[in-house]
Amino acid sequence: MKRSIVRLIPNNLRPPLRKLRRLYDYLEYDIGGRIGRRDPLLPPKWLHSVASQDLNASLIYKDYKEVGEEFFRYFVTIGGVQPDQRVLDVGSGTGRMALPLTKYLKSGSYEGMDIVPSSVKWCQKTYTPRYRNFHFHFSDIYNKLYNPAGKYSASEYSFPFKTSSFDFVFLTSVFTHMLPQDLDNYLSEVVRVLKRNGRCLITYFLLSTEALELIDAKVSHETFKYHLPGCRVEDANVPEAVVAYDESAIRSLYHRHNLSLSEPIYFGRWCGRKNGLSWQDLIIATKTH
Ligand SMILES: C[S@@+](CC[C@H](N)C(=O)[O-])C[C@H]1O[C@@H](n2cnc3c(N)ncnc32)[C@H](O)[C@@H]1O
Repeated sequence: MKRSIVRLIPNNLRPPLRKLRRLYDYLEYDIGGRIGRRDPLLPPKWLHSVASQDLNASLIYKDYKEVGEEFFRYFVTIGGVQPDQRVLDVGSGTGRMALPLTKYLKSGSYEGMDIVPSSVKWCQKTYTPRYRNFHFHFSDIYNKLYNPAGKYSASEYSFPFKTSSFDFVFLTSVFTHMLPQDLDNYLSEVVRVLKRNGRCLITYFLLSTEALELIDAKVSHETFKYHLPGCRVEDANVPEAVVAYDESAIRSLYHRHNLSLSEPIYFGRWCGRKNGLSWQDLIIATKTH
């Protein structure tokens, strides 16, 4: 529903209307499945964490599939993923990136890991029976936005995977929701689980000189107005809502973790840049030793 329409609804009517909307979404999803009128790999609307809830369902799903296909192209063309490789998706959400990989990873395998139990459960039930080489893992990690009741801290967490066991690791729109100490530990875990010469593809909001100029010129979609130690955020109450890092700090971090960053960084359009590859900035790197 459009935000302008929602504003016209009296406050006391919003909770029952929300319940009705959820019931409608549930029935639409359930009946659609029973009569074979929906793609079984598209998640129910209430699990969506990656598209605007203001859009109608067909647009949400179009965007969902298109972004998955877009990143699949990056995984193969600039990430070099092969069909027989072992791939890890950290912050796998509702399987947006897993979806196009099902057609590609024939003799390889895919592991997804996320901190939202309902999304992980849905992916486990939906993907694994159809694609035996696709698995999803729940990690009960605290994130104020995604898992406020989480038990563990991302800054101390070890991924539940063996050392040197993946050819390719990716995080799409995940470090954009994580704070500095958490990101630092996750990057060291990415390096630990990668094989030698394995690669990672990670998206960011990078505060490069150009991005800062565009923010100052007020053409950027995000402004990251709150300065926290080691990052900038858009929402001071829920800092994980969107997080940006200095390009130079991320470059130093890669260097410290023995990740060789492939030039160029593929800067994105989020800050009003005209010729960005994608929306967020994208870094490919290789574990060299
Ligand atoms: C914007 S969504 C992106 C989901 C997915 N990567 C995609 O592109 O469709 C951010 C995801 O990061 C996950 N996430 C946040 N903090 C995390 C953490 N510490 N470990 C793993 N996943 C995390 C959230 O649960 C959510 O699924």
